[in-house]
Amino acid sequence: MTRIDAHSVDLSFWSPPYYVGKAYEQYLDFAGWQKLLSEVVAEHGRVLRPGGFMVVNIGDILCFEDPEMPRFQADNVRNKKSPVTREDVLRAKESRPDATRHELAAMLGCSEQTVQRRLEGNNVRGGKHSTPTKVLLTSGMVEKWAADAGLYLYDRRIWHKDPCWANSQWHSNSYRAVDEFEHLLVFWQPGVVTYDRGRLSPVEWAEWGSRGVWRIASVRRNDRHEAEFPEELARRVIRLWSSQGGTVLDPFVGSGTTTAVAATEGRRWIGIDLDGVSAELARKRTSPEQLCILSA
Ligand SMILES: C[S@@+](CC[C@H](N)C(=O)[O-])C[C@H]1O[C@@H](n2cnc3c(N)ncnc32)[C@H](O)[C@@H]1O
Repeated sequence: MTRIDAHSVDLSFWSPPYYVGKAYEQYLDFAGWQKLLSEVVAEHGRVLRPGGFMVVNIGDILCFEDPEMPRFQADNVRNKKSPVTREDVLRAKESRPDATRHELAAMLGCSEQTVQRRLEGNNVRGGKHSTPTKVLLTSGMVEKWAADAGLYLYDRRIWHKDPCWANSQWHSNSYRAVDEFEHLLVFWQPGVVTYDRGRLSPVEWAEWGSRGVWRIASVRRNDRHEAEFPEELARRVIRLWSSQGGTVLDPFVGSGTTTAVAATEGRRWIGIDLDGVSAELARKRTSPEQLCILSA
């Protein structure tokens, strides 16, 4: 981000590592995760133009084991354990190497959650369902880092997506939710905002432009990238909070959803990813004549 000109970005839209145990965030401990996000947010104070926006898509809950926390007492009176073993999953994977988690689950007659647990031995919520688990809200942290960078919270929307494990019944010793939503936190860089009612049609304003909850199905495929967000999510953010010809940044570009949609919507774009494979993927997915893709 240090290579981006000061006050040159109209909109920055991104979804960072959530610190939930994905492969691309294994190098981070909790302190490192906070440092990364706070530094990226801080750079926005420099790169956003006055009146520009930073929109952060993030799950609002973080879970990790805390040995100091009292043990949560749970007696499971109706435990149902899937008979599918790790060996079953490995055999299915061998017979269909290209199968998605969803397809493997269908082949084995179990849930996607079971497939992932058998393969990775953990769960999607970074330990939310083990005891003792400490739970922390992330939006407050992001809000503080943004305030430190001189950005003001302007709005927030809920992205109502599919439940994490749409085809599963959730069996665990927990009364916690399998969240089917994430947040979009919208921050404003002080300066004049051009208000252009023509960015959306009257129907679009009514159906989503002025609505707090956006119902958009998740990307079910996980063969291209582990954590793609849907193009429709990027399209709404870009159309609502930037103008034609403006520059859109995604500092965690992944498969290039933000940059691809920015190009389609007539915006210039910058994408950054630590992972060279993702950066290349994003470059291929995005129109070549625009600004640049950088891999950190
Ligand atoms: C949630 S994914 C983004 C997915 C993206 N929105 C899409 O639709 O494909 C987060 C991305 O952050 C990248 N990442 C992790 N640490 C990073 C860092 N220090 N700098 C830049 N990118 C990083 C990962 O490689 C991953 O591609």
